[in-house]
Amino acid sequence: MHYDYGRNKSECPEPIKSEVKGEVTYRSRYLRSDTYNSNIKANRIIVSEMGTMAFPDSSKSVVVTFLNHTIPDFTDNCAGNIIKYGNDYYATSETNYIRKIDPVTLETQDKLDYQKYLPVNLVTSHPHYDKEGNTYNMGTTIADKGKTKYIIFKVPATEKGASERPAALKSVEILCTLPCRSLFSPSYYHSFGMTENYIIFIEQPLKLDILKMATAYLRGVNWASCLKFHPEDDTLIHIIDRKTKKEVSIRYHTGAMVVYHHVNAFEEDGHVVFDVITYNDNSLYDMFYLDKLKQQAASGATSSPVNPMYKRFVLPLTNKVAEIGKDLVNLNYTTASAVKEKDGKLLCQPEVLCEGVEVPRINYNYNGQKHRYVYLNVVGMSSLATKITKLDVQTKQRVDWTSENCAFTEPVFVPMPGASEEDEGVILTSVINGNPGESDFLLVLEGKSFKEMARIYVNAELHIDMHGFFIPQNDETLLSLPCRKTLRTFSSKTDGEVRITEILKHKFPLASALKVVDISGGCGAMYEIHIESDEFREKRTVEQHQLVNQALKEEIKAMHGLRIFTDIPKK
Ligand SMILES: [Fe+2]
Repeated sequence: MHYDYGRNKSECPEPIKSEVKGEVTYRSRYLRSDTYNSNIKANRIIVSEMGTMAFPDSSKSVVVTFLNHTIPDFTDNCAGNIIKYGNDYYATSETNYIRKIDPVTLETQDKLDYQKYLPVNLVTSHPHYDKEGNTYNMGTTIADKGKTKYIIFKVPATEKGASERPAALKSVEILCTLPCRSLFSPSYYHSFGMTENYIIFIEQPLKLDILKMATAYLRGVNWASCLKFHPEDDTLIHIIDRKTKKEVSIRYHTGAMVVYHHVNAFEEDGHVVFDVITYNDNSLYDMFYLDKLKQQAASGATSSPVNPMYKRFVLPLTNKVAEIGKDLVNLNYTTASAVKEKDGKLLCQPEVLCEGVEVPRINYNYNGQKHRYVYLNVVGMSSLATKITKLDVQTKQRVDWTSENCAFTEPVFVPMPGASEEDEGVILTSVINGNPGESDFLLVLEGKSFKEMARIYVNAELHIDMHGFFIPQNDETLLSLPCRKTLRTFSSKTDGEVRITEILKHKFPLASALKVVDISGGCGAMYEIHIESDEFREKRTVEQHQLVNQALKEEIKAMHGLRIFTDIPKK
């Protein structure tokens, strides 16, 4: 399909309602970062980005500008992902700046500098979350007090309803630091893995040359050109014990490779197993320069210089009694190996499970545990994903989904509440529709069958985003809810159900049907309400829900979630 890479798409700041049964609205905004605002004001790029070095206005002093760039102040154009710290959401790239956003209106809010809380220059845009709502992330400290190191940190969960000022980052805890192989050449990494007991960090030979970065401006090159792949080096794999906060003593290594995305990691029978998408070098970066993308679009190229591969590594957690040359992997379902070498190191060879795929997503409830299904973009032949796929890592079978002249963003898996099976849920993806006269749409696929459930056309331009982030309406339902009361019986109503029913009867005297159910097992933490009333007539669904919310204003304060279903009596 043809795609115009050189044109900025319009934003859609006010919600647009789609024409579907039910209710779906769409909105989009450009992040009003300081970088964005400065560039718009100047009508040119004046803040340097990864792939674009900005040069001074000729009316300004070159000396001052040069000094400013010697220690680069990075961009806050956070176009990589969304991170949740505490109860707040932040747009992020990999610099020391993140921008808080309102997840409903998408308005740009506070600018946070990690360096106020942690000595880090770079931080990943792919943290992990545990079921208590804590966030784990890692960053790099460059040449600070003569040391360059990697820092793994935890941002504790914030109590629901607690003030987010100061930001949750103020309570950050450093879990562990790892020395870098070289003072001036830290490894570049985009994500990491986490199991119940371990953190997996790949120190790959794609390195940031700090001295080159410091002089990039003077030399007129961008920062991306200061990233260099060293095929002569191997890749170190670090396993950090989350309890002792120390690296396990075994040295693991593999051949030179480049990894951007970890898929998942888990522990099994004395091994740490982790899945990653790997590349043979860093030519992926070159593919995304605007001139290359334009060339590709003009030529209709269907081949790509890169071939991302889905690989599984298996790392045994002990090597004490093994003889040299022995493969210590004891899992019978994988061909991945870890062979003990003379110096005691383990040389790890992965198993390839799939090729030509990227931006992996799993059911995140299985993060850190053994997973079976992965949802990915098929990207092998182009920078645009023209297929999405469901990969079964047990059988290595794939089910693809595609539609003519369509390109897909990251497929985000949303589990069904209360699901008992891993693939019980839906996959959401935004679709750029290249068919003349047709709108872009949100696609909903059924998790098990990977078949289309719905496509929701919106009268707006959708964007090809880097990553997607699903926020449930009652976000706290993702977390474990402490049950303060005894379990209910099926034959009786709880006090809360009786109380809420009475309030609604009083507020909606015309109600012809009303059902209130405590769906938190009698805890009073979450309710589902079905109400049919003439009071809702000629009101939009959102207005009907607002009336119910207003009626239960006081009760809601003590709840973690509320599902409302309203209807109008049939005449
Ligand atoms: Fe990413």
